[in-house]
Amino acid sequence: MDIVIRTTAGQAERLTAALVADYLRAHPRAVLGCATGRTFEPVYAMLAAMHAEGGLNFRGVTTFNLDEYVGLDQADRRSFRAYMVEHLFSKVDIAAENAHLPDASAPDLAAECRAYEQAIQDAGGIGLQLLGIGLTGHIGFNEPGSALQSRTRTKALSELTRRQNAESFGGVENVPLRAITMGIGTILDARTCLLLATGEAKAQVVADALEGPVSASVPASALQFHPDCAVVLDEAAASRLKNTSYYVSTYEREPEWAPYRERGL
Ligand code: F6R
Repeated sequence: MDIVIRTTAGQAERLTAALVADYLRAHPRAVLGCATGRTFEPVYAMLAAMHAEGGLNFRGVTTFNLDEYVGLDQADRRSFRAYMVEHLFSKVDIAAENAHLPDASAPDLAAECRAYEQAIQDAGGIGLQLLGIGLTGHIGFNEPGSALQSRTRTKALSELTRRQNAESFGGVENVPLRAITMGIGTILDARTCLLLATGEAKAQVVADALEGPVSASVPASALQFHPDCAVVLDEAAASRLKNTSYYVSTYEREPEWAPYRERGL
């Protein structure tokens, strides 16, 4: 796991956007796993700006989102599909048929989950998976207790997660109780994972996930098993880590990060 700490959230977001853009330029037919949430809004804005400036295209890119709320119609403005349309899909040249989210309004959710796994496989597997982390330690909507080898399925949302997402629903009581989510096993199958966390509120869960024991109680800790996972943090999100000087020196000294240092990222 490569843990990188940048001073500000803006720097962490710019580095993340640069990593995604470089991946898409190197893999014009990339299969990109997308996360929603507040953390990624600035990153998608930066990717959209790069597209507008002519330096990045999504013509051959296929996307698969991590999750979707059960019961919300895909046209619902609170759905993750609506989030993706607002923040990315409407702003870049991705083909509509290549932008996938689980259909959580499907009559047979188990069949939808199987079909989603199959669609990922048929696309050749996810090349780069973007991840945020929830206050419960979830990745996707894999709440604590999720099997570390789980596949796409429906999952009950925890109270804390529902509170975390209450704002867009006008109150916690309106937040759906369940979601379809890629499983932890599905996420670990991605060839590369890239987790971004910013802000003091994430500091403890980031420390638990990155430096604590691997445990279903902190689902993001499963990323410790992944052979190619980068974690980008701002100083606030990194503030409870113990091995900080090592992570700082990774970015400052390791040759793989030189191109980013040279670009002032
Ligand atoms: C969203 C997702 C979640 C979020 C996490 C962080 O598709 O899968 O795991 O990444 O809840 O959300 P924010 O960024 O809003 O703090």
